Amino acid sequence: MYILAIETSCDETSASIIKDGCEEISSVILSQMNTHANYGGVVPEIASRMHIENITMVIDEALKKAKMKMEDIDAFAVTYGPGLIGSLLVGLMAAKTLSFIYQKPLIPVHHIAGHIYANNLVKRLEFPLIALVVSGGHTELIYMKEDYSFEKLGGTLDDAVGEAYDKVARVINVPYPGGPLVDKLAFDGQDTYDLPLPLNDNSYNFSFSGLKSAVINLAHNERQRGNEIIKENMAASFQNRVVEILVKKTMKALKDYDVKNLIVAGGVAANKGLRTVLKEACEKADVNLIVPEMKYCTDNAAMIGAAAYYAYKRGDIADLNLNAKAVDSLR
Ligand code: KG4
Ligand code: ZN
Repeated sequence: MYILAIETSCDETSASIIKDGCEEISSVILSQMNTHANYGGVVPEIASRMHIENITMVIDEALKKAKMKMEDIDAFAVTYGPGLIGSLLVGLMAAKTLSFIYQKPLIPVHHIAGHIYANNLVKRLEFPLIALVVSGGHTELIYMKEDYSFEKLGGTLDDAVGEAYDKVARVINVPYPGGPLVDKLAFDGQDTYDLPLPLNDNSYNFSFSGLKSAVINLAHNERQRGNEIIKENMAASFQNRVVEILVKKTMKALKDYDVKNLIVAGGVAANKGLRTVLKEACEKADVNLIVPEMKYCTDNAAMIGAAAYYAYKRGDIADLNLNAKAVDSLR
């Protein structure tokens, strides 16, 4: 089954053709990052306008790379949410139009289901599993008994982890996009700053706003004393706390639910510190760890095409009334 998938939930215009939920035939990602970098973050109005300008070209390019025609496609999939509403609507209209013209099923995909199934492009998922979802908008631990069944164990009570990375980056004068650069700086720094381990309790919930505030206060106090903070050390101290709490709660979930498979999903899955510490912890606990390839960590349509195959098998087929949802929980 060939699915043409479209992803436009934030600032990447992407289209991909995926065979049977696991094989990438072609993938095109047009990032708007350089435009938004001028403003220090994603500007929603500009994002939707750029999606409109580029969506047709990106879809055409995905077909061309695959050496396929639209008639070869068996179904169309699209991210319906969560995300920026104006951005989502562009992808949604494109997918609806194609589904209507070619009379093929329209499969709605939750963005986080996409991030999870990015791992299916690396290796077929094995169940039961725990998914650690870490992105710019999400920090969640999810239990999956089988394909396309999602039980949320816990999540962030305030900022998502990627969001905390981006805000901390701003405080230490690291340009947008902050997350990957803070990760790089942390590699060259030492854990010298006294930062708290956030929400260090027995729940599966997370909280990153206190840690972010601690970084802001420390930087402010140092500057008042006429000292500049050492970026690398602040990055390393912040990253160590984040990684420690993420790994601690993930390993607890694996143990409590007696699960031996762990997957990591979302933009922060690209974080080298997190990958390294999780790998060690999983080896010790005899847990199979799957992390997505770097190119599948941040937003892309290939992951949506992978998820869509299993959504379709579960019976998720939408009609032309399908609407975009800025906020929606994973079910
Ligand atoms: O999944 P994603 O592309 O978009 C959302 O669905 O949110 O994730 C983007 C987030 C951003 O906050 C970005 O700073 C963060 O992922 N990120 C990282 C790294 N690479 C991307 N955070 C920490 N370390 C990284 N290497
Ligand atoms: Zn994402």
